[in-house]
Amino acid sequence: MSNISMTLDEAKALDRADPLSALRDRFLLPKGIAYLDGHSLGPLPLQALENQRQVVEAQWGRQLIGGWNDAGWIDAPQRVGAKIARLIGAKPHEVIVADSTSVNLFKLIVAASSLSSRGTVLTETDNFHTDRYIASGAAEITGLKLRTAPRAEIEDSLDPDTNLLLLTHVHYGTAERYDMAAVTRRAQQAGVLTIWDLCHSTGAVPLQLNRDGVELAVGCGYKYLNGGPGAPAFLYVAEHLQDRLLSPLRGWMGHAAPFDFASDYVPAPGIDRFLVGTPPILSLAALECAIDTFDGVSMQAVWGKSIALFEMFDRLMVERCPELVCVSPRESSQRGSHISFKCPHAFEVCQALIAEGIIGDFRAPDIIRFGLTPLYLRFEDVWRAVEKCAEIVDTRRWDHARFSARRKVT
Ligand SMILES: Cc1ncc(COP(=O)(O)O)c(C=O)c1O
Repeated sequence: MSNISMTLDEAKALDRADPLSALRDRFLLPKGIAYLDGHSLGPLPLQALENQRQVVEAQWGRQLIGGWNDAGWIDAPQRVGAKIARLIGAKPHEVIVADSTSVNLFKLIVAASSLSSRGTVLTETDNFHTDRYIASGAAEITGLKLRTAPRAEIEDSLDPDTNLLLLTHVHYGTAERYDMAAVTRRAQQAGVLTIWDLCHSTGAVPLQLNRDGVELAVGCGYKYLNGGPGAPAFLYVAEHLQDRLLSPLRGWMGHAAPFDFASDYVPAPGIDRFLVGTPPILSLAALECAIDTFDGVSMQAVWGKSIALFEMFDRLMVERCPELVCVSPRESSQRGSHISFKCPHAFEVCQALIAEGIIGDFRAPDIIRFGLTPLYLRFEDVWRAVEKCAEIVDTRRWDHARFSARRKVT
């Protein structure tokens, strides 16, 4: 600990000076841990805990079916969507909460590809797996060809046959971030619509979808939005495209008049047509409370603290634990809100860290990721995480059979 350029007391002083530090009280965080996994699953907002009891007991319990009208359940997908819109620089009626990111991607790929007769969907070779899997299925069904290109060649791979470009804004592994405005513009100039996956961006980096000319996007509710395990996802369609797109999943909730029980499908006007089935009200209620924890907080302030956390983490790791090599961009405009390190025994080191209360995660084959989530993470947590990394690597404490057992979720 002697050669570290920042002491624990100095880290604690940064926390005392942090204007966002009080937000931590909005979450249930078990004592004795540093939670650096908010890029996978955000922690429980205390308001959601209280509210779940209210929704379950007073609404479901006492209002029963009346809850759909009297408790506003039926409008929850639009209401919560409008709250997400504020965080991503969209208009309230351009976002709706529904299904999972995977399902929303499918809906948008199939719907948007029918606007053009071009034959290929282009995505990054190393895009998140569900995006590639869903794109391959959607392409097969629609008769399109799925083409992949490495990140560095994406823009040059747009050609006259490209129908759609499907990209994840912040890379799940390295945290590399595309220049959303520039890529969207370049694709538009080539006559191509872009679908952005915002799973690692929403609630993490400042987004201005309208300003940046974004037309289509999806994102999840359980990472930086803290909506809970399996929280419903969202979907964004720019106003000017909404009535031109038809969802391939034509459920009754996306019908213009679901309770007419008409024999033919008539799409609802606007974004509502992207609903499929009955919305999951308990999950929506938890997600709504989670988004409310961002009330009064500017995304610029959140991002400013993320940068400070990253720079401290990076600098201290170079000093204390150089065996773990940072693979996230050091230029803040080129990354999201996690920091990733490559190391030969990443899985075991990560398990050894978790056993000591430093919760990060592992991504195959050799990456350890730490989520930098300014609403509840302290500079003190980063300091402790670096110290534990150094200790575990220096002493080879990770080299024990109990840290190599892989369970279903790694
Ligand atoms: C970029 C990205 N897209 C999609 C998903 C997951 O999609 P779903 O919510 O449908 O499981 C993840 C999950 O980590 C992700 O990182």
